[in-house]
Amino acid sequence: MLFPVTYRVNARGHMEVGGCDLADLAHEHGTPLYIYDEDTVRQRAAEFVAAMGDAGEVLYSAKAFASPAFLRIVAEEGMGLDVVSAGELHIAAAAGFPAERTYFLGNNKSAEELELAYRAGCTIVIDGAYEFELLRRAVPPGSRARVEIRVSPGVKPDTHDFISTGQLDSKFGFSIENGQARAAVEQALAHDRLELVGIHSHIGSQIFDLRGHVAAMEVMLDLLGGLKRDLDYQPQCRGAGGGLGIAYTRADDPPTPRDFVETIRGALAAGTAERGLKAPRLVVEPGRSIAGPAGVTVYAAGSIKDIPGVRRYVAVDGGMGDNIRPKLYGARYEVLKVADPEAPATETVTIAGKYCESTDILITDAVVPPIRSGDLLCVPATGAYCLAMASNYNGMPRPEVLMVKDGRARVIRRRETLDDLLLTEVF
Ligand code: LLP
Repeated sequence: MLFPVTYRVNARGHMEVGGCDLADLAHEHGTPLYIYDEDTVRQRAAEFVAAMGDAGEVLYSAKAFASPAFLRIVAEEGMGLDVVSAGELHIAAAAGFPAERTYFLGNNKSAEELELAYRAGCTIVIDGAYEFELLRRAVPPGSRARVEIRVSPGVKPDTHDFISTGQLDSKFGFSIENGQARAAVEQALAHDRLELVGIHSHIGSQIFDLRGHVAAMEVMLDLLGGLKRDLDYQPQCRGAGGGLGIAYTRADDPPTPRDFVETIRGALAAGTAERGLKAPRLVVEPGRSIAGPAGVTVYAAGSIKDIPGVRRYVAVDGGMGDNIRPKLYGARYEVLKVADPEAPATETVTIAGKYCESTDILITDAVVPPIRSGDLLCVPATGAYCLAMASNYNGMPRPEVLMVKDGRARVIRRRETLDDLLLTEVF
């Protein structure tokens, strides 16, 4: 699924999402423009939640894209939330997100963040030994914070190294391999301010091959088997992380949310039965696979530079400031002409951004129909980790964000102005 579920080519031959003509939206709101399709967000969220049923909980990983309007939608679909900073917790609070459905993760939470998370009533996923000390200070005597232990299962998924997290050499989690995970569980159980409710792991992101999740579940259940045998401890929940990949090009064929949940549920059910363990509640925390396919970006083409025999550069009015993924992870995207998305692709061009860096390239060697300056171009599957990682590099204001549904578009984040760039400056 490369496009939002409501995508179609309308009677004018234009791209349409959520019943809105993308050319009209671009003319009214300017470019670069990020557009989220509400039906896609709801459908993806609902598919996860339905597949989970009463076996556990599905959290939305706010890092993929967090805005109050967006978070309200995933809350309405019955999802919990995974946050990793006071900032994400603040955005969630502004959205009225229920704190008891919020999990606070992160490898270096500050004392203030832990106190905030505890006071709000979040479940805290402990990621390192230092947190035990900080939590003793954050939680008053006689009280207990609900915590999980994040474990690194030593499984390397099939994805880019920069977004793999489950291996021994990682800044995240307590490793099983060297005994740190077991020691952390013992420490949490002995801690007078903690209630250990779960054991968590996350192996990486943009994963298509679900066998990595099955392998991680096996390793984790072996750990749980040992905890039951030696400590008579069985956790209430088993956090299996996020990581479901999405299609960025038509060639990509990722598993569905249902495949993802059912595979992990199946591995948990079979693995616990095999080991004589009580099945804990399963918690998964997808981010990309909810927000990613729901979002598209519209840019306007500007300067076109031909280097005969070498390459043609088509520069758009955004780039690495709103989408750094091509340069950071070698991510591949597709590009379509908003006014004629099905025009035959006849030439190879490189889509560049407008930032002052040679590396500011969105798509190298895109095969496209002829593009002229002023054409509107759409890049699909940009809903996750684009705006979330956006910057004001080169003094560029960040784009406007729309939520579209049933032919109506509402601004959920206004375009930054030049004066916004000065908001935090002290003269
Ligand atoms: N849970 C934990 C503990 C995580 O670290 C992550 C992502 C998720 C859940 C959500 O994973 P998802 O379902 O979105 O794959 N900026 C990179 C992705 C970094 C992912 C970081 N952790 C990118 O643009 O590809």
